[in-house]
Amino acid sequence: MKKILITRKLIKDSEDKASKTFNPIFNTNDELYSQSKVIDMSQGCDGILTSLTDKMDKETISKLPDTIKIISNFAVGFGNIDLNAAKEKGIAVTNTPDVLSDATAEIGILLILGACRRASEGIQSAKDGGWKWSADYLIGKQLTGTRLGVLGMGRIGQKIARIAKSLGMVIHYHNRSKLSEDKENGATYHDNIKSLFSVSDVLSICCPATKETENMINKETVEYFPKGAVITNVARGDIVDDEALIDALNRRKIYAAGLDVYKNEPNLNPGYLKIKSAFILPHLGSATKDTRIAMANLAIDNIDEFFNTGNCVNKVN
Ligand code: GLV
Repeated sequence: MKKILITRKLIKDSEDKASKTFNPIFNTNDELYSQSKVIDMSQGCDGILTSLTDKMDKETISKLPDTIKIISNFAVGFGNIDLNAAKEKGIAVTNTPDVLSDATAEIGILLILGACRRASEGIQSAKDGGWKWSADYLIGKQLTGTRLGVLGMGRIGQKIARIAKSLGMVIHYHNRSKLSEDKENGATYHDNIKSLFSVSDVLSICCPATKETENMINKETVEYFPKGAVITNVARGDIVDDEALIDALNRRKIYAAGLDVYKNEPNLNPGYLKIKSAFILPHLGSATKDTRIAMANLAIDNIDEFFNTGNCVNKVN
């Protein structure tokens, strides 16, 4: 049986499956392993089942034992892994697409609603007490008739677009390529971000974190939006230059932000904490029991498929 290091604790159903599929090393205390600990613990292993909290950079990958043939990431995103470094070392990298699209899209919609309808301020007032209903109390932005820009129209973006459309939003999107009419579902394609942002009353960031998308929301691009736009991010923190967004929020160029992901998680930029119109969540995108089990099971199946066939449909490098 293949020996696999599993860097984070999984839900019991998935750990049971792992025990039946290979010889796993579990992290029973769910300790956050340092990079050197991952290197040490992977000695004698055939593969590693990582999570998005493991920074598998070039140096870490170069120090892994030669016996490691696969890094199976327990996430759809794989910005935590240097794909080229892995490829050079002959290590396959896999991810867990599809199974988390619905759960993540739900959080994407929550971010839009929470930011537009001032949920953070509302929750705080309800808890503080003493609030008084009035005709203009905590007035927010209505979604019906509002334009939603979707940055990255993959599976999660498409699902957010479908739900948003059912709420009466008018959908625009930018993607590396234009989608088929069926997948577009009435949305308008923009072949560049300037054009998309200029019609986005609300933006939903759903694209992967890559070198091209890093800091795509920045000092310059934030000016492309209509005044009072709302920016939400359910993808990865690396796509947003925090200082630029915080400054735009403080100037009210951007009306509100809805964020589930951050650079340097869990240490988000403290500037966000001072902004009342920031609706912030602690990376909950895929956090439902069924989804987390499906993701872990797929990460396990990816390893199994790779060792049985020499390849894997979810290989990303
Ligand atoms: C979650 O953020 C994932 O990429 O799976």
